Amino acid sequence: MQDPAVDNSLYRDAMIYDILHTPGTAEELDALERIAATFAPADTDPSRRLWVEPACGSGRLVRLAARRGIPSTGFDLNEGMIAYARGRAAKRTDPQRYRVADMRTFVDDDACRPGSATFVFNTINTFRHLMTDDDAAAHLEQVRAALRTGGAYAVGLNTTMYGCEQTVEDVWSARRGSVGVTQTVQYIPPTGKHGGARIERVISHLVIDRPSGESHVDSTYALRTYSLKQWLGLIEKSPLRLIGTTDDAGHPTPPAETGYRIYVLTGR
Ligand SMILES: C[S@@+](CC[C@H](N)C(=O)[O-])C[C@H]1O[C@@H](n2cnc3c(N)ncnc32)[C@H](O)[C@@H]1O
Repeated sequence: MQDPAVDNSLYRDAMIYDILHTPGTAEELDALERIAATFAPADTDPSRRLWVEPACGSGRLVRLAARRGIPSTGFDLNEGMIAYARGRAAKRTDPQRYRVADMRTFVDDDACRPGSATFVFNTINTFRHLMTDDDAAAHLEQVRAALRTGGAYAVGLNTTMYGCEQTVEDVWSARRGSVGVTQTVQYIPPTGKHGGARIERVISHLVIDRPSGESHVDSTYALRTYSLKQWLGLIEKSPLRLIGTTDDAGHPTPPAETGYRIYVLTGR
């Protein structure tokens, strides 16, 4: 696998990814439950309920959803992530809920039956790993095919105000047992007032602290950028339509030129 969206060193060690991203997962799932309850009438029928997470990574959200009694599946193109997700699921839930599949072809590849999903979700800018309009359109077509009537798709991403964004640096730390992880990550915005090649560069430096010693992992990858107009234009050309926007806690909030929102879509 040579796709940097899937095989960069940040995603190569699923356990380290999981340790780093687990804090806050309960609140993220609270937000998704709020959104499903507000925007997905199909999700209220317990006999039909099915949540699907494209690009689920280590499975942290699907795992917690399953623990909360929500029938859920996830898929990812990174085999190491799926092996880890299955290993963590084995103790409590069905490991087969995790599949290796591509966001662009998952219904066709049998990771999700057509018309079966009452709620599809894809947060923290993962959608922006799709690097062309054709890939993004293929994914939205697949989500449309996956959704049951009355189902909804919640996709969380940052929009960009070209020419106005600064490089931003974040530091995240987490610990599980004897393993500590600190990530310093820089987001370098695209240049030019029209966004140039529409690429945000992400540079991550991980410091992993184990009883055996400290190790360092560097990775760089790209995320595609969208102005609000480009993003709404892409939705407009897709078989989905926008029915709401929320903040990261799932509370209705208008779209903005810059910043993170969760956009809720349903079939036309
Ligand atoms: C930022 S992680 C998000 C993981 C998970 N959704 C979460 O919230 O923790 C991005 C994930 O997208 C996956 N990915 C990137 N491109 C993909 C594609 N075309 N199809 C499926 N998975 C993909 C990567 O392997 C990685 O696990």
